[in-house]
Amino acid sequence: MKASALVILGASGDLTRRLLLPALYRLHARKLIGDLRIIGYALEKWSPERFEKHVHKALSQFVPELDEAGWNEFRARLDYRHGELKAEPLAALGDLAAAGTLFYLALPPSLFGTASEALGEAGLSSAPRGGWRRLVVEKPFGSDLASAKQLRTRMHAHWEESQILRIDHFLGKETTQNLMVFRFANRFLEPVWNAQHVSQVQITYAETLGVEKRAGYYEHAGALRDMLQNHLMQLFSLAAIEPLSTWDSEVLRDHKVEVLRSVKPFTVRNVDAHAVRGQYRGGKMDRRKVVDYRQESGVAKDSTTETFAALRLEIDSWRWQGVPFYLRSGKRLASNCSEIAVQFKRNPGALPGAVAADNNWMIFRIKPRQTMSLLANAKKPGLKLEGRRVTLSAPYEEEGNSEFSAYEQLLMDALEGDRTHFLRFDEVEWAWRLLDPVLKAWKKGEPEFYAAGSEGPSAQDRLLDSGHHWRPVRLVAGEDD
Ligand code: BG6
Repeated sequence: MKASALVILGASGDLTRRLLLPALYRLHARKLIGDLRIIGYALEKWSPERFEKHVHKALSQFVPELDEAGWNEFRARLDYRHGELKAEPLAALGDLAAAGTLFYLALPPSLFGTASEALGEAGLSSAPRGGWRRLVVEKPFGSDLASAKQLRTRMHAHWEESQILRIDHFLGKETTQNLMVFRFANRFLEPVWNAQHVSQVQITYAETLGVEKRAGYYEHAGALRDMLQNHLMQLFSLAAIEPLSTWDSEVLRDHKVEVLRSVKPFTVRNVDAHAVRGQYRGGKMDRRKVVDYRQESGVAKDSTTETFAALRLEIDSWRWQGVPFYLRSGKRLASNCSEIAVQFKRNPGALPGAVAADNNWMIFRIKPRQTMSLLANAKKPGLKLEGRRVTLSAPYEEEGNSEFSAYEQLLMDALEGDRTHFLRFDEVEWAWRLLDPVLKAWKKGEPEFYAAGSEGPSAQDRLLDSGHHWRPVRLVAGEDD
């Protein structure tokens, strides 16, 4: 029996093709996955040879460095079975399972419950002595609080919480993990990382892409469920957590949950003061004509799905009392600019000469390039005492030190059983708890339209305290890149 196996349910799908297979190949090329067997499972009545062809095509498209020798070794890991998500056909996978077997639900969210139950009924959730069984679940976990709880109940019928790995690929991103390291490994940050010194925090995830071919999913999800409930909420809780006394995955997640629990809750009636939604109109982006969201294929002509969502969160704690955290994400915005930006308060007292000091910002950039920057004030060279803005910037990557993709990081963690960068149910639950009133309020009314290639709907400004401005999504050359 092989030591470990990965069974991908949904092996013919887009996620497997674009993200899982390339990540697995790269891990293989770096010799990190031992004798892992990779077993595809899907409805398509393919032979293992046909699946190999499918995998080869995907790798040729998404792995530029794919080479003949590497492929020949990799293909030896592959196998394939077809069938429905029912106990009987799935039970056949039992023969291929290894002592340690990871099941990956690369499926539409509506099938998570069915698949986990069927695997359990097929006897695949319990491991032989000394072995293990784990289940990776993609996002979104439910579509509101009630459905998330129902899904948990279905999963727990056969799987222990400790076997379930709810993946949020943002937790595998270098910048996300660096947030924790940079915050807690540097002495200079902690004394100022609080309401006494921080004036606001902006977490932005802007994309130029539209809905692409995902209308089937996106029409029901919208930006709030697609990006904010999970990814941005994670960045938010990591930016705000209290220092840990013990570095332990449970303690870390306890602290993240504590942040979510401390957010002042919204009610359906005060949602407008805390949340804004928008939907893109067509226009020109990069000299290319793009259509209105409502004209995209698969989108209803009168769709009210938001393609932009912004939130204002306030944490009721000693550390963060009075500091607004602004979160926003949107499609078809001016650039692919994503960052966590912390603005510090202005200095009191007089400044020398004609110096006008701007607020300092600490910026963790995710896109277009991972960098850490500190926007500071310094003297302008010359005879007079004048100030100028300087950017102390460190690119995240180091030469010769290749990065791992988020899926590479998280697949390794899942195989090793490290749950630190996966979501515990209560994290998901508290995020839904917070957003349920927004979802409810947004069942009525319409999002504000914004032009493709713009900064998003103007209504987002109403979330800001006086004196606060959104950092531009359109990249300012040289500012902090
Ligand atoms: C996904 C969302 O989870 O994250 C997409 O469903 C979004 O809509 C994507 O485009 C952004 O992540 P990344 O890592 O591709 O920037």
